[in-house]
Amino acid sequence: MTKTLRVELGADSYPIVVGTGLLNRVGEILTPHVKSGKVLIVSDAFVKARYMPIVHRRLTDAGLDVNTVEIPVGEESKSLAEFSRIQDSLVANQLDRGSTLIALGGGVIGDLGGFAAAVYMRGISYIQIPTTLQAQVDASVGGKTAINHPKGKNLIGAFHQPKAVVIDVDTLKTLPQRDIRSGLIEVIKMGVIRDEPLFEMVAENLEAILNIEAATLIEMISRACVNKAEIVAKDEKESGLRMVLNYGHTFGHALEALTHYNSYQHGEAVSIGMNCAAQLAVQLGMFSETAFQRQRSLLKRAKLPLTFPADLTPEAICDAMYLDKKTLGGKRRLILPTRIGEVVIRDDVDDRQVLEVISQCF
Ligand code: NAD
Ligand code: GLY
Repeated sequence: MTKTLRVELGADSYPIVVGTGLLNRVGEILTPHVKSGKVLIVSDAFVKARYMPIVHRRLTDAGLDVNTVEIPVGEESKSLAEFSRIQDSLVANQLDRGSTLIALGGGVIGDLGGFAAAVYMRGISYIQIPTTLQAQVDASVGGKTAINHPKGKNLIGAFHQPKAVVIDVDTLKTLPQRDIRSGLIEVIKMGVIRDEPLFEMVAENLEAILNIEAATLIEMISRACVNKAEIVAKDEKESGLRMVLNYGHTFGHALEALTHYNSYQHGEAVSIGMNCAAQLAVQLGMFSETAFQRQRSLLKRAKLPLTFPADLTPEAICDAMYLDKKTLGGKRRLILPTRIGEVVIRDDVDDRQVLEVISQCF
C-alpha cells in the first residue's frame, strides 16, 4: 500500500512517498533522486540500531557508497556542536557537490541534517526518511531546517527543500505512545487551521491511530502532508500564509525554551499552546466556546497536556514569546482560530490580554 504526493515548487518540486515496507525498497525509491554515488546517512543512536541496517543494505545494493554518522538522541543535538560534527563527517568522507545527505530519524535529525546539507559546500542535496509521527506529518516536508540557540528554538537555520521524502509507517510500530500522541498534535493542528474533515477523521479514528493501524495512518499522514504541501507551494519562505502552521507554537516554543527543551516533547508544548491560543480567541470574541471545547476534548482524549507547569510564571512565558521568529518590528504575531478549519494572523493583541490568558492556563 503506497501513496505518492508532490510538493509543487517548480524546479525544486519533490515527491512524498507514504506507505508500508518502504525501507525495504529504499534503494529503488531513492536511486532516481541521488545524483552521484556518495551518500551520508545521519541518524541518532536508537534509529541507527533499529533502522540503519536495512537502509544501509538496500542503498549499498543499489550501488551507492554509503557513509554514516550518529548523533546523540534528543533535542539538545540541534546544536552548533552536532552541526559541526556532521560537517566534519561530510569533509572526512569526501562528499562533494553531487553527494546526498540522508536524514533518517525524527524531527531533530531532519532539522539538523537538513541544515548541515543546506550549508555544506553552499548546499548539497538531502533526502528525508522520517521515523517519528511528528516528522512524518510535519517536520520532513517543507524544507525548514534549523538548530537551536540557547535563547530560542530554531533561531539558526535555512530553507532548503529535500529531493524526496520517504514515509514508512511501519517505523511507527516501535515509537513510544508518548511520541505518537505528541506527533498527532500537528495533525490536529492542521485540522484546526484549515481542514475540518481531517480534524473529524482524527477524532473518529483515534483508537486506530494509537493502535498503529497502517491503512488509517497512511490516509491520515497523506492528508496532513497534502495540506502542508499546499501551504508550502503557496508560501515557501513563510512571508504570510505559512505562518498559520505555527498555531500554538508561539506559546509552545516559549515553554520549550524556558524548560530547556528537555521536559516537554515539542508536540506536548504545542498542545498547551493551542489550548492557550484558543482560549485567547474565545476571550477576543472570535472563536466560539463550543469550538474551543471541541478542540479541548480531542486534545484530552489524545492525553495531551493543556496547562503550563506551576514552576513557571506567566510573565516569563509572555517575555519568552518575543523571541519567536514571527515577531516583526517588536510586534508579536499570533495565530488564532475563528472556527475549526480556519485561523487568522493577528498582531494587535496587547500584552495584557496575552498575559491574562496565560495566567488562566495553569
Ligand atoms: P526526535 O527527533 O527527538 O525523536 C524523538 C525520539 O524518538 C528520539 O529519542 C528518537 O531516537 C526516537 N525515535 C525516532 N524514530 C523512532 C522510531 N521509529 N521508533 C522509536 N523511537 C524512535 O523528535 P521529533 O518529535 O521527531 O521531532 C521534534 C523536532 O522536530 C523538534 O526539534 C521540532 O522543532 C522539529 N520540527 C521541525 C519542523 C519543521 O518544519 N522543520 C516541524 C515540526 C517539528
Ligand atoms: N512546522 C512549521 C512549518 O513548516 O512552517
